[in-house]
Amino acid sequence: MGIKLNTEYLKNFVSDVELSALTSAVTQAHKGLHEKTGAGSDFLGWVDLPSNTPDALVSELTALAKEVQAHSQAIISIGIGGSYLGIRSTLDFLGGDLKLPLHYAGHNMATADIVKLVKLIEQKHVTVVVISKSGTTTEPAVAFRIIDGAMKKKYSGDELKKRIICVTDEKKGALRQIADKAGYRSYVIPDDVGGRFSVLTPVGLVPLALAGVDIKAFVDGFRAGEKEYANTDMKQNICYQYAAIRNVLYRKGKVIEMMASFYPNVQYVAEWWKQLYGESEGKGGKGIFPASTILSTDLHSMGQMMQDGMRNIFETFIMIDKVADAVMIPTDPEDTDKFNCIAGKDLDWVNKQAYKATAEAHYEGGVPNLVITLDKADAFHIGQLYYFFEKGVGISGYILGVNPFDQPGVEAYKKKMFALLGKK
Ligand code: PA5
Repeated sequence: MGIKLNTEYLKNFVSDVELSALTSAVTQAHKGLHEKTGAGSDFLGWVDLPSNTPDALVSELTALAKEVQAHSQAIISIGIGGSYLGIRSTLDFLGGDLKLPLHYAGHNMATADIVKLVKLIEQKHVTVVVISKSGTTTEPAVAFRIIDGAMKKKYSGDELKKRIICVTDEKKGALRQIADKAGYRSYVIPDDVGGRFSVLTPVGLVPLALAGVDIKAFVDGFRAGEKEYANTDMKQNICYQYAAIRNVLYRKGKVIEMMASFYPNVQYVAEWWKQLYGESEGKGGKGIFPASTILSTDLHSMGQMMQDGMRNIFETFIMIDKVADAVMIPTDPEDTDKFNCIAGKDLDWVNKQAYKATAEAHYEGGVPNLVITLDKADAFHIGQLYYFFEKGVGISGYILGVNPFDQPGVEAYKKKMFALLGKK
């Protein structure tokens, strides 16, 4: 069980001396997070959230899931950014059969998407989870108006109330007022946990439980991460090594971090990570630009740029050690394509050779890379990985000299849109 970090393809790019030089910055950052004295200290609730998450919440949501699964055929989850990506990332990563299919709304305002969801409400029994920490974000608010209207056409009274669940602030915001006035069930997002750090709060836990994810294992994964990545000795803490390495690379002009995976179920993990790192570090003219590729697919579109383009990139591979199924490559008696050399080999072994070849070729082409390997693609490991990246960006952002816990740039577009819409 666990997560490993392989740094063999950093040789000649990051030295032990350069890493040691960051030891005191890492120690300071650790203190800032754990003693809650660093920049943005009002939003450090996520640091000890795993151990502060009550087992009673897990039991309550497991019971809620049973109830909803008994009366619903689908879930609609409304939210954007931190109120969307962690849910999608987890469900895509885990794959497999869900107890209930989950549909997303509120992360765009495309008419075609919402029309499909209104039809779904007409045709099937649905439960809606509407998520917004601020309770005022335009996209989910607009989507909820339309979906709430469709739900009210079909259901009323207690039937309606049991099918709409709000996840929002305890006191503030329009969604809190709507929930209280309509008598919808609601769950609270703690004040001191920012949107992109909130997947372990009811933001993630409610929809994931309803869809049928083992949220106990998910919480346990976070708890394992909290314990493992609290080690103040950087040599023994791969999370702090990751944070320090990316800062050494950044200072040498590697200003783009490409998350790459040979496993397509990692695509939305990368989207979640892009929000976490982009919103946390992209400030005051600083920041490593987070980008992502899914391989082998993108080797035939982005491969040329990675191998041979501007040398301002480093790569972070996400690998999975043990995959669930084995698929053997068949033998072809004629061997026309000359691939009998791999006949009898497992497809995942071939996939891993593609990774090795790519990591080596990119490294030789001037792209250093790190490899994060998860033992398995299950709820425990994705929980641990989320905590790894949350802690990683806290440490990395402090080394970089930014407040990783605000997002003034996101607010700027919101204000302009409110003005265009005439919202008071
Ligand atoms: O990280 C953040 O706080 C933001 O990106 C939010 O997740 C995003 O803007 C959605 O906000 P809300 O949940 O308030 O609707």
